[in-house]
Amino acid sequence: MTDHEPVAVLGAGALGGAVATALAAAGHPTTVWNRTPARLAALTSAGPALLTAAPTVAEAVAEARVVIVVVADEAAVRAVLSPVAPALDGRVVVNLTSATPDQTRALGSWLTTHGARYLDAAAMSGTRTIGSADSLFLYAGDGAAFAAAEPVLHDLGRATHVGTDPGAASLWDTALLGLNLGLLTGFYHAVALLGHLDVDAAAVARVARDYLPFATGLLPEHARQADERRYPADDGSLAAYAAAVEHIVATSVAHGVATDVPDAYRALVHRGMGAGHGADGLASLAGVIADGTGGAQR
Ligand SMILES: NC(=O)c1ccc[n+]([C@@H]2O[C@H](COP(=O)([O-])OP(=O)(O)OC[C@H]3O[C@@H](n4cnc5c(N)ncnc54)[C@H](OP(=O)(O)O)[C@@H]3O)[C@@H](O)[C@H]2O)c1
Repeated sequence: MTDHEPVAVLGAGALGGAVATALAAAGHPTTVWNRTPARLAALTSAGPALLTAAPTVAEAVAEARVVIVVVADEAAVRAVLSPVAPALDGRVVVNLTSATPDQTRALGSWLTTHGARYLDAAAMSGTRTIGSADSLFLYAGDGAAFAAAEPVLHDLGRATHVGTDPGAASLWDTALLGLNLGLLTGFYHAVALLGHLDVDAAAVARVARDYLPFATGLLPEHARQADERRYPADDGSLAAYAAAVEHIVATSVAHGVATDVPDAYRALVHRGMGAGHGADGLASLAGVIADGTGGAQR
């Protein structure tokens, strides 16, 4: 495919609208359809010249070699694509709609029987940065289709193919959402504690951004330990972290700050200690979590 490939976007909600606008702005003739036409008028009148509205799904996909579907849920994807499924033969269908891994595998099987080249996709960075390298999209499914559609997909943001199993992007999405929630809830707890110094959240964010490279810098080493299931206590033992977590809990209580976040850390650290990891490093928790039983090898 070329850098100016015709694209159809089915669904003009918050995500679909941003996707369609970014692709048209990048030079792809982009045809957008939406169940409720009123949304289309607002989008196309303010959008790039290459963005046009189609009154039906069939007309939207007629010229497109890449069809992006981004509606509420799996049932809506089926409702939108069923009438045009035979016309998808040979086209790359990219499903940006959130669904479970099993739902997206089933969608992939169904669309593949109609000759479509199926990719499931996860928009990892919301809508604000779409069209820039700050935006990350994960894709799973037909690897040749991903390679073919890359000239289009890279105009949405960084494009990473995470495997040929169509359910893989959904599982990555879920896993990284958990990572993000852990980070953000830890941040909210820090904001609550530091509020007692009359420090506002913006100031906490500024210092936290300087601190986070240290934390993210630990990831490769802890990943190696998790992969090898060997957890040297080079950066402190789990027993030492248990004491540190008690300190977070006690300090929170003393300041009238809720302990939900450090309580979760405490429960996990204690489970690791109970599983015999007291002298191991913090990454031993990776094994405890993965096993579900705390029975990681040491
Ligand atoms: N927004 C994000 O940052 C983001 C990030 C990652 C993933 N997602 C996922 O992307 C999908 C869309 O999210 P959104 O934020 O764009 O939602 P949204 O703003 O609420 O838009 C929903 C879209 O789905 C359409 N729709 C709903 N039910 C339909 C049906 N039965 N038939 C046809 N069209 C139907 C709506 O059409 P009408 O206008 O006619 O109602 C609208 O175009 C969701 O699965 C969401 O989880 C969103």
